[in-house]
Amino acid sequence: MSKKLYICIFALLSLMACGAEQELKSIIPGEIWPDNNGEHINAHGGGFLVYNDTYYWFGEHKTAGKAGNRANVGVSCYSSKNLTDWTNEGIALRVVEDNPQHDITIGCVLERPKVIYNEKTGKFVMWFHLELKDQGYAAARTALAVADKVTGPYTFVKSLRPNAGQWPLNFTEEQKNATYDYSINRWNNEGRAAVINGMFVMRDFEGGQMSRDMTLFVDDDGKAYHIASAEDNGTIHIRELTDDYQDFTGRYVRVFPDKRNEAPAIFKHNNKYYMFSSGCTGWKPNPGRSAVADDIMGEWTELGNFCRGTDKEVKTTFGSQSTYVIPVIGEEGQFIYCGDRWRPNNAIDGRYIWLPITWEDEKPVVKWYSQWDLSFFEK
Ligand code: GAL
Repeated sequence: MSKKLYICIFALLSLMACGAEQELKSIIPGEIWPDNNGEHINAHGGGFLVYNDTYYWFGEHKTAGKAGNRANVGVSCYSSKNLTDWTNEGIALRVVEDNPQHDITIGCVLERPKVIYNEKTGKFVMWFHLELKDQGYAAARTALAVADKVTGPYTFVKSLRPNAGQWPLNFTEEQKNATYDYSINRWNNEGRAAVINGMFVMRDFEGGQMSRDMTLFVDDDGKAYHIASAEDNGTIHIRELTDDYQDFTGRYVRVFPDKRNEAPAIFKHNNKYYMFSSGCTGWKPNPGRSAVADDIMGEWTELGNFCRGTDKEVKTTFGSQSTYVIPVIGEEGQFIYCGDRWRPNNAIDGRYIWLPITWEDEKPVVKWYSQWDLSFFEK
C-alpha cells in the first residue's frame, strides 16, 4: 500500500472517530440537567444571548426551600457551544449583602434576567424584574446592570418604573383625558372596561409604568425592545430602548389590554414577530398563548395556544411557563421553546422544558418530546 493511501485511511479513521465523539446529546425536558460540575443548572426564568458563536444562559439563581424563590445570590451565567454541555460561568450579577437599603439587597425578588449585547458601546446590558425586599410584588420595577465582559461581573445601575410622564403611542386623546374612580372594583364589567381603556396607565402616569415578567428583543436593525407585563399584569407594554439599551426612549405601546399575559418571549421569523406568553396563575402552569405582528410595536394578532398534545399538556404548556425562545446557531429559521417547570416549595429544583418549535399553517407550535436532540432540525 502506498504511503499516500495509508495517510488517507488514517485521516478517514480519525474523522470517523471525531464524528462518533460529537454524537449529539439528548435534551430531556423536565429532568435534572447537570452542568460541567455535575450540578443541576441553576438559571431559572432564563434568557439567552448568542455571542461569539456561543450560547450564554442567564437566569435566577435559586436556593433550597420556599425562601429560595427570593434572590439570595443573584443571576447565574452558563455557557455552551451546543446547548447540551453547559459550563458554569459563576454569578454574573450578585445581590448586595451589606446594605439593606440597596435596591438589590439580599432577599429581594429578582426575576427573569435577560442580557443583550450593544454593538455600539461594546457593553453587555442586563434588564430584569425587581421587587424590593419585603414588599411582596408591589414595587413592579425593572432594573439595569451592565458589564464589559459577557459573563460579568455586571454592575447594578438603577431600578425604575419606565416611561414616567409618557403616554403609550396607541393611546387616543380621549383615553388621555378620561377620568376614573380608582376605588371601583376592577373585576366587574365596569372595572374591566376602565382597565381596558387605560385606567392603570393613567394611575401610573407620573410615577412610571409597572414592569413585572419581562424579556428583551434586539431587532435586525439593532434597535432593542423591553417587553413586560404592566398595569397590574393586565397588559403587556412593548417599550423601545435607547441606542445604548440602557434607558427608555419613551416610545411604547400597550398590547392586549386586560388579557393578563405574563412570561413573554419574542422571536422573529420571515419578517414577522412572534410572541409566546402565559396567563397569570403564579407558579402554577396554565395554557400557553401566542401572537404575531408585522411590526414589533403592533398591531399584534392572537394565534391561540401554541401547544399541541394531550388535553393536560395543552392546558399546562407541558407543565411549564414560557421564558425564552432560542434561535439555533447555524440553523436559520429554527427555534427552541424554553420554559420553566417551577418548584415553588423547593425553588432550586425547578426544571427546564425545552422543545423544538414547528409550524402549522404559519403558526408556531410546540409538541412534547420526552427526549430529542438538535438533529431534529435537520429532518
Ligand atoms: C409568575 C411569574 C414568575 C413569578 C411568579 C411568582 O406568574 O411568571 O416569574 O413572578 O409568578 O408567583
